[in-house]
Amino acid sequence: MISRVLRREFLDFFEKKGHKVVPSSSLLPLDTSVLLTTAGMQQFTPYLSNTKNVLEDFGTRHLTSIQKCFRTLDIEEVGDDTHHTFFEMLGNWSIGLDQDKGYFKQGAIEIALDFLGNILGLEKNKFWFTIFKGEAGIPKDKESLEIWQEQGISQERIIEFGIKDNFWGPTADTGPCGPCSEIHYDRGPQYGCGNQDCGPNCERCKRFVELWNLVFMEYNKKKDGCFSKLPQSNVDTGIGFERLLAVLENKPSAYETDLFLPVIQKIEVLSAKNYNSQKPNFRIISDHIRGAVFLAAEGIFPSNTNQGYILRRILRRAMRIGKLINLPRNFLIPLSQETIKIYQEFYPEHKTKQADILSIIQKEETKFEKTLEQGLKEFEKLACKGEIDGSMAFHLYNTYGFPLEMTEEMAVEKKLKVDKKSFEQAFIKHQEISRIGATKKFGGTGAEQIKDEEQKIAVIKLHTATHLLYYALREALKDNVRQMGCDINSERLRFDFSHSVKLTQDEIKKVEQIVNQRIKQDLEVEKQEMECGEAIKSGALAFFREKYPERVFVYTIRDKKNKDWVSKEICAGPHVKRTSELGCFKIIKEQSSSAGIRRIKAILI
Ligand code: ALA
Repeated sequence: MISRVLRREFLDFFEKKGHKVVPSSSLLPLDTSVLLTTAGMQQFTPYLSNTKNVLEDFGTRHLTSIQKCFRTLDIEEVGDDTHHTFFEMLGNWSIGLDQDKGYFKQGAIEIALDFLGNILGLEKNKFWFTIFKGEAGIPKDKESLEIWQEQGISQERIIEFGIKDNFWGPTADTGPCGPCSEIHYDRGPQYGCGNQDCGPNCERCKRFVELWNLVFMEYNKKKDGCFSKLPQSNVDTGIGFERLLAVLENKPSAYETDLFLPVIQKIEVLSAKNYNSQKPNFRIISDHIRGAVFLAAEGIFPSNTNQGYILRRILRRAMRIGKLINLPRNFLIPLSQETIKIYQEFYPEHKTKQADILSIIQKEETKFEKTLEQGLKEFEKLACKGEIDGSMAFHLYNTYGFPLEMTEEMAVEKKLKVDKKSFEQAFIKHQEISRIGATKKFGGTGAEQIKDEEQKIAVIKLHTATHLLYYALREALKDNVRQMGCDINSERLRFDFSHSVKLTQDEIKKVEQIVNQRIKQDLEVEKQEMECGEAIKSGALAFFREKYPERVFVYTIRDKKNKDWVSKEICAGPHVKRTSELGCFKIIKEQSSSAGIRRIKAILI
């Protein structure tokens, strides 16, 4: 079964069972306390904890999705049969039970068996099951045990595990979570360790793959680490799309399915090497390129912090591994193009954003290409001495752009270790030296001074972004949107405007697109001083609650081609000089502020 068919089978099955198909949310979660989306339930968190009403927003308790996810926790394991950085998760939800509405354990289990057995035709005798054994004050899940048994599963196929393996969530420090019951698939003894106690969650081998995680979300983890009962019970499930596809295709991993094969084949051609002779390296490169394409498609740029660092890390790692198998310079682009081809049917934005995605990846490749070779030589010299201490790792980071994790990985290959503590010390010492340098430049009190400067710049950028947002809202909503309030700090902007209905996901995307397009066009932000009355006559937008002086500043941003203004506002400023200074604009929240007034919170990344 190829990936397209599996996607269809899954969504059709749940749609027929009364589930609403919800599009994947962004890889950048609304909850900014986590860097990336790691599970399908993340976008539904407020509904799972009943702070938002699922019926109001979706018209049903039953939802299904194919969610883009990204996990870096197991990045060292990428290259084996089952781990990926980026992956997709198939999921179904039953949110909040009231009397006869919504299903819980019984329904979730019956539906899962129906899909795997009757729709996909997987053999039931290859399945193993796990249940929560009870721990940390949360009782054993006897109910699931009984339900599996009622479904004809014998007792020895149902194994008990504790918090570590069979309790899910929350994705942040606090939030909805619960015990789970999993379905594992036995791939056969050829994948096994041969030990007598080998079974689901075996730590020695990958004979058993976890296919489907059914979470019975009834708890809330609190700040103090304790659990309380949620106001409602929910079902949250997740299937690793890649794993399921590999099982259905009877392949060792997803790399041998249509999700990766064209990329693997392209690597064979470019490197003149055989996949089977270099499996882990081929797999790491293709996984990381896929991850990079998806991150770049979200408008993330490689950098030394947050999501940008993850993108930088995987691209640079792919480049280093590429050298090991003799891939020629600039190999990231042809492989990214193959990846886009594979995914563009389901993610059409990859096609429309292809030029941007490739340019982000190309720039990083060009940047690192210059220092990678030299850095590798330097590393060899250091490794010859039999030690990579932290200051050396910092030297590789600071001079050659080697992410610490990459140096660590290379050290492990040479059976050496990097002392992380002394890396951090070297890092701090370097910051201290920069601080002294900056103190001389700016005068004043060093670190705080720099921080202040940085914060001021962040506020200025968000100020300009607010003007572009105001313009984009008027453009996208075709509504005479009026500003009703505004608040900016160094982290985010908040903008209230007149509009009577909730913005759809498409509208939010469109607004983001309009702003980002104007940012990319690198437009000048013109500043002019004039009489207030004259400014208003010229069409400049003014905020009605503000009392303006006689003479005001007007900030104007003009269209590149016809020079007509797109944004013209009376504003005290200051603003950036050119829109390209803003980076990438992202809406993180859209909600009601009061009757007829919507509120948007947005950030620059
Ligand atoms: N939220 C559960 C998971 O990600 C289903 O495994």
